[in-house]
Amino acid sequence: MRVALGVGGGIAAYKAAELARALQDRGCQVEVILTAAAQQFIQPLTFAALTGRRVITGLFGATPDEVLSSSIEHIRVARESDALVVAPATADLLAKFAHGLADDFLSTLYLAFTGAVVLAPAMNTNMWSHPATRANLEALRGRGHRIVEPGEGALACGMVGPGRLAEPEHIAEIVMAGAGMRRDLEGETVLVTAGPTEEPLDAVRFVSNRSSGKMGYAVAEEALARGAKVILVSGPVSITAPAGVELIRVRTAIEMRDAVLENLGRATMIVKAAAVADYHLANVPAGKIKKTTERLTLELDPTPDILAEAGRRKGDRLLIGFAAETGRLVGEARRKLEAKNCDMIVANAVNQSGAGFGSEENEVTLVLRTGDIIPLPRAPKREVAGRIFDHALQLRLALHAAAR
Ligand SMILES: Cc1cc2nc3c(=O)[nH]c(=O)nc-3n(C[C@H](O)[C@H](O)[C@H](O)COP(=O)(O)O)c2cc1C
Repeated sequence: MRVALGVGGGIAAYKAAELARALQDRGCQVEVILTAAAQQFIQPLTFAALTGRRVITGLFGATPDEVLSSSIEHIRVARESDALVVAPATADLLAKFAHGLADDFLSTLYLAFTGAVVLAPAMNTNMWSHPATRANLEALRGRGHRIVEPGEGALACGMVGPGRLAEPEHIAEIVMAGAGMRRDLEGETVLVTAGPTEEPLDAVRFVSNRSSGKMGYAVAEEALARGAKVILVSGPVSITAPAGVELIRVRTAIEMRDAVLENLGRATMIVKAAAVADYHLANVPAGKIKKTTERLTLELDPTPDILAEAGRRKGDRLLIGFAAETGRLVGEARRKLEAKNCDMIVANAVNQSGAGFGSEENEVTLVLRTGDIIPLPRAPKREVAGRIFDHALQLRLALHAAAR
């Protein structure tokens, strides 16, 4: 694989040298581009020695004769590279890419490049959390680019928090795993549900749950990045949907059921990551329930079982459900898989700290229709989503083979 490695002007630029090595160790040909700011932190010589190639340090380096005798450099690199990896991706580069600026080699290459893009940001915690950076990241994710999230820890600027460049070996693994490059969901339409539902108790109150929607949104992003058309049915969440998905906002379990069943016919895969309320108040009072000194009893009825209804109507679509459990994980997931005619259950122990509801990571076990049980290591939710699709595609092949 031919990788164009762009290095931005951050303290972590020295780690890009390790990344170049890690990619070469995995058999990649690496061509390095240093921004002007990156050259304040690390010399082109380091990369030239490591890669055995000339390092690109500017847009206007070539002489007129060179331009006439060979092709224009940024167009050549765009054409010859399979992947563009940027590490560290500075706040500045994220902004340039998001807005389409092309005032140096790397940003011009980015616009001319049509292949897979992997961005590994690193910056001060406040820069990382700034709404401008968040919006730029959303836009870039929406284009299907792979963002390798920075780690948390003590930063060179003295702050402690997110912003530290991911480990070079980890970035190299992601590039090689091809999660950013594969387009193996092209032609698929993936219907994803995400977030909690809100079940009204009166005109102003509701019951809900702690689901943040992050897992379902990561599934939607991953499907989009791998080429799928994505229909995202989302309960009320505070995160932004990836640009490029067809977003259907719902509030209650009944609204979610209606949206899923209306769109099921268009889908080839259904991933039900939403935490749908199991009970609701069937007859919601029109006004606000008045406070009194008496005990208040509300009788709740079960909500419709969306997974089971989807299971009855799914045909040969792949149906993947989530089971958030605090008890017997695999046993309960198996029961759910059978009872609801699912192909895979992603069993999620929601009582572990640092994984599950609201957190950035998840640790799940996949329970498959074939009987396989696959525990996955704890990983960022986007990576977990990637593994779910890897196994879903293999499972479909196995099911087709078994049906023949
Ligand atoms: C000592 C120092 C460290 C810096 N570290 C970072 C950093 O880690 N991440 C970042 O986004 N910007 C960092 N900056 C700011 C960038 O260098 C600056 O925004 C520059 O314009 C980025 O240029 P580039 O995106 O073309 O590489 C740093 C600046 C200085 C002076």
